[in-house]
Amino acid sequence: KGTASGLRVPSPPMKGLILAGGSGRRLRPLTHTSAKQLVPIANKPILHYVVEDLVGVGVTDLGIIVGDTAAEIRDSVGDGSRWGATVTYIEQSAPLGLAHAVVEAGVFLGDDPFVMYLGDNMFEDSLEAVVEGFAEGGGVSARLLLSRVDDPSSFGVAELGDDGSISQLVEKPENPNSDLALVGVYLFGSAIHEAVRSIQPSARGELEITDAISWLLERGDTVEHHLLDGWWIDTGKKDPLLECNRLVLDDLTADVAGSVDAASVLEGTVRVEAGAEVVGCTLVGPVVVAAGARIEDSRVGPYVSVGADCTITDATVDHSVLMESSRVAGGAHLSDSVLGHHAEVSGGGSASLLLGDHSVVELGESTGGEGV
Ligand code: G1P
Repeated sequence: KGTASGLRVPSPPMKGLILAGGSGRRLRPLTHTSAKQLVPIANKPILHYVVEDLVGVGVTDLGIIVGDTAAEIRDSVGDGSRWGATVTYIEQSAPLGLAHAVVEAGVFLGDDPFVMYLGDNMFEDSLEAVVEGFAEGGGVSARLLLSRVDDPSSFGVAELGDDGSISQLVEKPENPNSDLALVGVYLFGSAIHEAVRSIQPSARGELEITDAISWLLERGDTVEHHLLDGWWIDTGKKDPLLECNRLVLDDLTADVAGSVDAASVLEGTVRVEAGAEVVGCTLVGPVVVAAGARIEDSRVGPYVSVGADCTITDATVDHSVLMESSRVAGGAHLSDSVLGHHAEVSGGGSASLLLGDHSVVELGESTGGEGV
């Protein structure tokens, strides 16, 4: 089905359930004060990519599961109207697992088919091929997205039978029998509601969606799968987060709207937003610099996202994400770092840091590395 804008709309319309209630344990200390789903990738919160992805395939009736960081998430996404979506916020009473989130979203979801999207997952490709035909298909209880990974033991893992269909699903197996990870996008019909109410908590005390889908499989329901081609990243840890920042910056378009003085050198793809200032610097793209940021006498890039109102003075920064109003100065050399809002790093050493909001770090000369 098409719309005036040429968008393909699933029929009947599917709802979207975005999970943004998780505590972000693996990104502490950053997530002590902010939501992991709002960490910016190329200066845009991950959750905004998720909403755009869903709206892009005509899924505009969105429920967002929120937990401790509810206020921050509401502030960031609002009522969804800026994307042409409507957002219903659903407070999860406790972070008791993905299947528990489906239980708590029961009233919002009703019996409609829906896409469940983990709010910290990012994808290269649109969901078009994934949702294609799902809501129309009779008798299919779920469609899963799978991706080949190097470390299946940190994910739900799917094993395929001789006929190519899913024979078994195991959540984070110690000795995986397959390299097919369950990716954080799931399509469900109404059968999932009985499944999530029929399972018991896992060893980690959560109602696992993997167990709910296994329950459907054991009952003989049809569970389809789709193997992803493009990249997929679960951004819940520092290294994958930075990898995601690199992948997204690889597609950056150059645009210098801010002020860059004559002494500065820009190499590769660089975006300097209006209201940003670059003085006496070398920027090695891909690099994006948000409004209000000021970079002086520094070398920045490649693969750096500089958030709004950051300052970088007399420093070197590569492969990093600097969140709003963070500061790097005094000869510091930062690589592979994520700095929370208002974090400050100074001093002449090299480091790779994951800093929470308002952290203050002074690097001594003796910390080694090349310095600047
Ligand atoms: C969850 C699911 C897991 C899936 C992963 C994808 O894991 O339980 O099956 O592979 O998301 O990101 P969690 O991130 O909650 O540990």
